[in-house]
This record gives sequence, structure tokens and C-alpha cells, in this order.
Amino acid sequence: MDYLLANTPIETLKTECLIVAVFENKQLSPAAQKLDLLTDGLITDTLQRGDIKGKVADTLLINYLPYAAIKRTLLVGFGDADKLTPKDYRKAINAAANTLKSTQISSADCYLTEIKLAKHSITWNARQIIEAFDTSFYQFNDCKSKPADILALKALSLNSLTDTDAIQTGINQGKAIAQGVALAKRVSDLPGNICTPTYLAGQALEIAKQNKNLTAEILEEADMEKLGMGSFLSVSRGSRQPAKLITLEYKGADKNVQPIVFVGKGLTFDAGGISLKPGAGMDEMKYDMCGSAAVLGALQAAAQLELPLNIIGIIPSSENMPDGDANKPGDIVTSMAGLTIEILNTDAEGRLILCDALTYAKKFNPDVVIDMATLTGACLVALGRVPSGLLGNDDALCNDLYSASETALDSVWRLPLWDEYQDQLKSNFADIANIGGRDAGTITAACFLSRFTEDYQWAHLDIAGTAWKTGDAKGATGRPVPLLVQYLLDRSNAA
Ligand code: BES
Ligand code: MN
Ligand code: ZN
Repeated sequence: MDYLLANTPIETLKTECLIVAVFENKQLSPAAQKLDLLTDGLITDTLQRGDIKGKVADTLLINYLPYAAIKRTLLVGFGDADKLTPKDYRKAINAAANTLKSTQISSADCYLTEIKLAKHSITWNARQIIEAFDTSFYQFNDCKSKPADILALKALSLNSLTDTDAIQTGINQGKAIAQGVALAKRVSDLPGNICTPTYLAGQALEIAKQNKNLTAEILEEADMEKLGMGSFLSVSRGSRQPAKLITLEYKGADKNVQPIVFVGKGLTFDAGGISLKPGAGMDEMKYDMCGSAAVLGALQAAAQLELPLNIIGIIPSSENMPDGDANKPGDIVTSMAGLTIEILNTDAEGRLILCDALTYAKKFNPDVVIDMATLTGACLVALGRVPSGLLGNDDALCNDLYSASETALDSVWRLPLWDEYQDQLKSNFADIANIGGRDAGTITAACFLSRFTEDYQWAHLDIAGTAWKTGDAKGATGRPVPLLVQYLLDRSNAA
């Protein structure tokens, strides 16, 4: 989809469809008022008749106007103008996008940046419009013999007579985020027989090829052997697909500026290993690489926006399969950090590959390290599918991520990482066990990781409940790409 900036007044606009806002209590936005004048009061009449109430996310498509230059109009409700929240704004835009999806309209004009939000700039409005439309129009067709639906809309113009520079900035940011989200969704939605560790490595090389300032390096199992990554390699031993350690490096600042490091779990299929998962819903474990997908999406967005930062993306990628040579419960392995690990459950494999990647991260002298992983089913029990879980060893970093999540509408909620929980990881035979029992599973998983992150400021995002949707709408969400890019934008402004 093309997203364009326009500054055409409604009086001279020619369009297939004009999108304007209306409010509760029959109130019109400035654009709706102008349209009302051009159409002999059609919009006022429509509200009087009660055909649209103007509540948040109400929509009404009027497909004939007594004014030839504007073929149709989509009225979108934004509720009470004085009480409009950022979430409401996004909800209304989502509704507009979803309504247009089932029409034959191929290009539309909107005047939706003009709606004022107390907390946010017009740049934010423009960005949300693009993210919402792009998410709504995302389709996964890679594995279908023909596309599911033909979507007509090809171009959306953001129209405004003022603040055009701010809107253009929002369009650029929105496009970069939307493309990062779309990339993350696509690799995540690909099945495990196509999206293997080797495929992810290929994607990283491809992204590096397409973006200047971005380079990729792939380490093979033999390289990891030399680095002593006994924990990571123990997981891939049960798989015929070779593991890869992928590093993406984005240079946007002076070379001695310490980098922000993202680490993403790239389990391209998690069968559980010898601690085999039950069959029902196991297909969804192709999504166990969503953390790595978000790293790819965020780095691509950073490169497109040419952010003045240095950023490293590290992706440990493997399958977790049952096999004659697979990890067995009770096995003890030695991590790159030197800590020995008793593997009490081979299905707690994410932390086994992440711990070596987190140790590897030290070589980049990181400013901060943020890992993201579909790590625990327990996170779904604790927080459901609304926020991602956030844990970390640094309050300032956690607060920065929380604030970025609010701006990006990509929510997180912090859980405690107190020492008391560390006891659950005691092992009779090794330095540490890889599981901490039934209680507080998300926290004990983070406790495990915390043993490997003591040398730097670190935060962990458990995205088990947020990276994909289950049920009829099964599909990747691209989260937490919006949060990560917002964090990077905030850091860029502070720099
Ligand atoms: N990838 C899973 C976590 C997961 C499960 C994410 C379901 C989303 C939905 C992870 O590797 C795993 O299997 N974790 C175990 C840990 C347990 C054995 C301590 C879990 O959550 O059951
Ligand atoms: Mn598992
Ligand atoms: Zn897993």
C-alpha cells in the first residue's frame, strides 16, 4: 500500500472515498463540516437520523454524495472529542481500515490527523494511521495457491493543510514500523518446514543486503562449539536442521557509542524435545521464533529510519525435536559462561539457547541488552494475551520500555525478579536447574536468564501471549516491533 502526504483542501479534492471523523452528540470534525457544506447538509442529516451514533469505532460508508468530485465518504466515530484516549483513536482508525477492506475502493483520502489528542503529537497520529491500515491489510499468501481475498485499496493519502512536515515524519516512521511488523509477521507465519534456522539466517543476510549500515554474520555449529556454547548446542542436537547464531549489526552512530543489543529467541519449531508437548495446538509452536522475527523487524526499521544509534541484533536459532541424540531429562550441560545446567525438562529450551546468546552479547560492550522470547506458557496464565511480560535487572531500562510501550500501544507489564525466586532453580547435581517448578514460571524463567546478564543492564520481554493470535484469527501480530522501534526513537531523541 502507498501512503501519501497531501495538502488538498476538500473543496478541490477529487477522490473515490473521503474518510472523515464524527463525534458523539452529532458533532462534526472540521473536515466533516466542510463536506457537510459541499453536500447540502448530508452529514448533519445522517447524524440527525441516527444512522451513525459517532461512538468510538462506529463506521458508516455512504456510497453516493450529491457532489460528483467525492464518490463516497466513510464516516468514522471518535466518541466524545474531549475524552478521546490514544487507544480509542487507534480503535477508530482500525475500524476505518477494516471497513475499507471489504470494499472495491482502490484509493482513499483521509483527514484524520487533525483530531487532537492531549498526550500526543500529530506525528503520532499519522504513524498510527499507517500502522493500523497496514496491519489490517496484511495478508499471508506465501503458501496459498491463490490469494485468499483480493484487497482493492492500494493508496491512502493523509490530507492536511497544516503541519505537513510533522505528518511526513509520522508517515516515514509509520512506514518503517509497518514494514518491520509485516516482515516479522511473515517470517512468523511461515511454517516450520520452510522457516528453519537456515531460512532465518538467509533473511538476515537479505535484510543486510537491502539496507546500508546493516551487516549480518552467521555462526555455524562448529563456530559455536569453539565458543563453548554447550547449552545452546545441546538443544539443536535433537534436530536435523543445523542451528545458526545470527548477528545483525546496524551502525548509525560513532563507532565508540555503546550499542543497544536485542536478543530474540529463534526456535523455528518447539516440539518440546524428549519432554514432548501434547499434540493439540502443537502447530502453534512454529511461532516459537517470534522473538527473532521482532529483532529482524526492528533492525530493518532502524536502518530505514537511519536512527543515530548503534544496534546489534542477536538471534540464536534452532529446532527443539525428540531424537535419539536429543537432550534427555537429567542431562547436564556446560554453558558458554561456564555455569553447568541440569536439564530437568527439555521443553524449557528457550532459556538454554538464550543464555549462551546473552553471554555472547558481552563481546559488543552493550549499553543495554533487551531479549524477547516466547518463553513461558505461564506468562499466558499470569497476564493473558494483552501485555507482554517485562522483567529486568535495571529499573530505568524497565521504565523506559514501559513508557515506550504506552506510546506505541504495544503494552507490557512488569513482574518482579526478586532474589527469593532464585531458590527454585537449585539443582542437586549442577550449578543451576533449567526449570523452577510450577509456581511463578515466567519469573523463574527470567531468574534463569538473570544468571547470565549480571554484567550489564538487561530487560526481558516474555511475548508468549502477545506474539501471535490463536483461534479463527490465528496469525502473528508482529509484536513487540512497535514497542522496540518506539524505544529506539525515544533513545534517538535523547541522544
Ligand atoms: N515455547 C514454549 C513456551 C510457550 C508455550 C509459549 C505455549 C507460548 C505458548 C517454551 O519453550 C516452553 O515449552 N516452556 C515451558 C517451560 C516449562 C517446561 C518450565 C512451558 O511454558 O510449559
Ligand atoms: Mn519448549
Ligand atoms: Zn519454546
